[in-house]
Amino acid sequence: MNTPALSPAPTPTFPDPVAEAKISAKNVSVFYGAKRAIDDVSIDIPKSYVTAFIGPSGCGKSTFLRSLNRMNDTIAGARVEGEILLDGEDIYRSGMDVVQLRARVGMVFQKPNPFPKSIYDNIAYGPKIHGITGSKSELDGIVETSLQRAGLWDEVKDRLSDSGTALSGGQQQRLCIARAIAVDPEVILMDEPCSALDPIATARIEELIDELRGRYAIVIVTHSMQQAARVSQRTAFFHIGKIVEYGTTSDIFTNPREERTKDYITGRYG
Ligand SMILES: Nc1ncnc2c1ncn2[C@@H]1O[C@H](COP(=O)(O)OP(=O)(O)OP(=O)(O)O)[C@@H](O)[C@H]1O
Ligand SMILES: [Mg+2]
Repeated sequence: MNTPALSPAPTPTFPDPVAEAKISAKNVSVFYGAKRAIDDVSIDIPKSYVTAFIGPSGCGKSTFLRSLNRMNDTIAGARVEGEILLDGEDIYRSGMDVVQLRARVGMVFQKPNPFPKSIYDNIAYGPKIHGITGSKSELDGIVETSLQRAGLWDEVKDRLSDSGTALSGGQQQRLCIARAIAVDPEVILMDEPCSALDPIATARIEELIDELRGRYAIVIVTHSMQQAARVSQRTAFFHIGKIVEYGTTSDIFTNPREERTKDYITGRYG
């Protein structure tokens, strides 16, 4: 089943510029060898909202998320069919600069993965390799702004030369978000970014996502219904490789159209 647009949202009385599609996936299937993990999925991901991907384990959320910045390219045997447009440009076209793409569409993983380098270098690395800047003072500025935006600056400003791996789990995850922000991305993909964190660190990341909303298109995969309801404005429910239902988060959680969505959000399976 294809669910190309938002429904069953009421007809808006004026255009909603923040809901404009940043990424348009059209008839996307993803295979691992002969196994089809994503089956003909179409979705428009809005520019200035947070979109949550929910669904039972193994339904393909991470696989689909990785197809949005071609991270599946790094998995042997993985193959993507269909079309994924970023601002109308096919990211799978030949000649696409994948390194550049992954700066535009950044990713934050389940387990914080700072580089075994200083806090400063964790942030400065991307801008350096992408040639955004080489000057020390400009780099200092990017490091400070990125850490500030990620809500980490006050905690680390006096220890920028300490190793990123010496931070707490929640701080490491904010460092990884700062690292993604440092290369001036347009989209940030987060795959269960809080699942390794305690409730306080989780609340901090959720606040952060809310602060970043509007500046970047954000997609978050989560197993927590509460988290999806708190942080997102759009929710897509995945089930066995398909999107069963996609709509405003309030509709999905309070008025789902599909029985399978209802069963999942009420905890009947998953
Ligand atoms: N590298 C891989 N090689 C082969 N099969 C894979 C690979 N990664 C995932 N799969 C399979 O693809 C399907 C979708 O997996 P995926 O990790 O995308 O699910 P998910 O929805 O993210 O699950 P979870 O909620 O447990 O993280 C599963 O059947 C999984 O076993
Ligand atoms: Mg996953």
